[in-house]
Amino acid sequence: MALLDFFSRFRRNKGSSNLDRRAYVHHVNDAPVDDTPPDINDLFPSLKHEEVSGAPKAIIIVVGNEKGGSGKSTTCMHIITGLLNAGKKVASFDLDARQGSLTRYIENRKTFFEKYQARLVLSTHMPVLFDTMTSDNQQMRAHIRTNFEHHIQKLAKNHDFIVIDTPGTDNYLSRLGHSYADILVTPVNDSFIDLDVLAHVDSESLEIKETSHYTAMVLEQKEAKKRRYLSNDRFDWLVMRNRLGQMRSRNQEAVGEVLQKIGRDVGFTVFNGLSERVVYRELFLNGLTLLDIRESEDFNLSSSHSAARAELANLLERLNVGIDVEQMMKPSQMQ
Ligand SMILES: Nc1ncnc2c1ncn2[C@@H]1O[C@H](COP(=O)(O)OP(=O)(O)OP(=O)(O)O)[C@@H](O)[C@H]1O
Ligand SMILES: [Mg+2]
Repeated sequence: MALLDFFSRFRRNKGSSNLDRRAYVHHVNDAPVDDTPPDINDLFPSLKHEEVSGAPKAIIIVVGNEKGGSGKSTTCMHIITGLLNAGKKVASFDLDARQGSLTRYIENRKTFFEKYQARLVLSTHMPVLFDTMTSDNQQMRAHIRTNFEHHIQKLAKNHDFIVIDTPGTDNYLSRLGHSYADILVTPVNDSFIDLDVLAHVDSESLEIKETSHYTAMVLEQKEAKKRRYLSNDRFDWLVMRNRLGQMRSRNQEAVGEVLQKIGRDVGFTVFNGLSERVVYRELFLNGLTLLDIRESEDFNLSSSHSAARAELANLLERLNVGIDVEQMMKPSQMQ
């Protein structure tokens, strides 16, 4: 069954986009370091700098892990789609200017929905146009901070959720993003190599020798959040096991046990997230997720699709943000 057939029953409605058309990635890494701060609107282009006041309303979900390729952007795409399907107003930030995967996904989604004249369901997306990898300079940092905080505060007022994708490396903007988390989701692939960014583990006893740099950074940003004026107390750190093999193995069990141990020590909750499935990656080019696919007279969900949808429902439930997950999964949401 061709992918496009899945969508043949989408309501015909051209809906307008709230993705900024100027979304593109601007790299400066190879350029000589320039001490001049960029124009304030070059970092986050869609909004103008205005006075922002009042208590924020949005719940901020940050998806982070310094380990590259752990599934952050994939997890973000699915969380965003799930929240949108549940009828929530969602804003998104792509703090990974170098790769811009989330931005690409949202652009692909917009193109697909426009092409098939389907009702457009998108987040208000903020691509970061400036690569902050070289942002060591104090003036630049101050600039980034003011700009980011302004946009967060503004979007928090008229959205239910802000979802933030972060890069697989440590940089100033990523740390700042973590310090705004009400919920931090850390996808971790099922391997001791991936676990090493959370804690160093003794190879014989599997005891924890010391916590690692990513854990230290998260705990630092949790403290930074507490110190921020008018900040709330919530900081739920969820570690999501990703790309789980469908056959149980000794390694899988050992990784699970060690993760639970680290979680008890440093204060995160572990849950089994997504299995290794092609369906989590094959829809990227169309900007879609499995949550956009509906069963119809012509198309039946396979047992693997159903199992994947159950995993996604579990992921959204684990966020504990009051989403009616059953409603989110109902095909009628997309009609
Ligand atoms: N559960 C899964 N099943 C199958 N493939 C997956 C799954 N999760 C992620 N992938 C694939 O793994 C690769 C890395 O995923 P993704 O880009 O989401 O990771 P990332 O943490 O955002 O990476 P980076 O650190 O480079 O930003 C991609 O090819 C993605 O399609
Ligand atoms: Mg990514």
